[in-house]
Amino acid sequence: MYPGKFITIEGTEGAGKSTNLNYIKDFLQQKGIDFITTREPGGTPIAEKIRELLLDKANTALCDDAELLLMFAARAQHLNELIIPALQSGQWVISDRFTDATYAYQGGGRGLPWEKIAQLEQWVQGDLRPDATILLDIPVEQGMERVRSRGETDRFEEEQMSFFSRIREAYLRLARENPQRYYIIDTRPAIEEVYQQLDRVLKKLVDNV
Ligand code: TMP
Repeated sequence: MYPGKFITIEGTEGAGKSTNLNYIKDFLQQKGIDFITTREPGGTPIAEKIRELLLDKANTALCDDAELLLMFAARAQHLNELIIPALQSGQWVISDRFTDATYAYQGGGRGLPWEKIAQLEQWVQGDLRPDATILLDIPVEQGMERVRSRGETDRFEEEQMSFFSRIREAYLRLARENPQRYYIIDTRPAIEEVYQQLDRVLKKLVDNV
């Protein structure tokens, strides 16, 4: 669809997104790929303001539909201002989360209908979908231990264990339904082993250009 490749990184809470993202960046730099990294919700000044609203623990009254629509409002801005222009210019875009997080959190976690999300996805994105999605996966209990050990939590991290179990299930469902673009990385082993798994995936993506 565009000359640049669109790669999204997804993960259950505490799956090690920051560490692995740094590894992915180093790998692409070494291969001489022209890329940008960004994140959702956020990625542009306006979308980052929406992110603040979404993650603020004080917003306990935020209803599920408003949460869903704000995710897509931020995404529309992000796509228009940053992602699509970069892909059009031939740059790769590496996004720390994208629409699969909406299926997982608002669909799986909050229980909003998959169909509603699919309608918004089509409206906001047209036919644009990630070329590849790397899912960093860890069992819920282990991931939450890592989150707690970090200290400060956001509005989502305040949720119950069952919420995160539904999110993990939804991600695994997305991976089963989209095997052509999904790569699951098990982040339980020692970091060197996780990097080896990532190496295999990244080599494949770089060689496929
Ligand atoms: P982060 O902690 O990975 O930066 O993501 C922020 C939070 O936003 C995380 O708890 C997942 C959540 N989220 C959604 O609920 N729906 C979405 O569509 C996205 C992109 C993130």
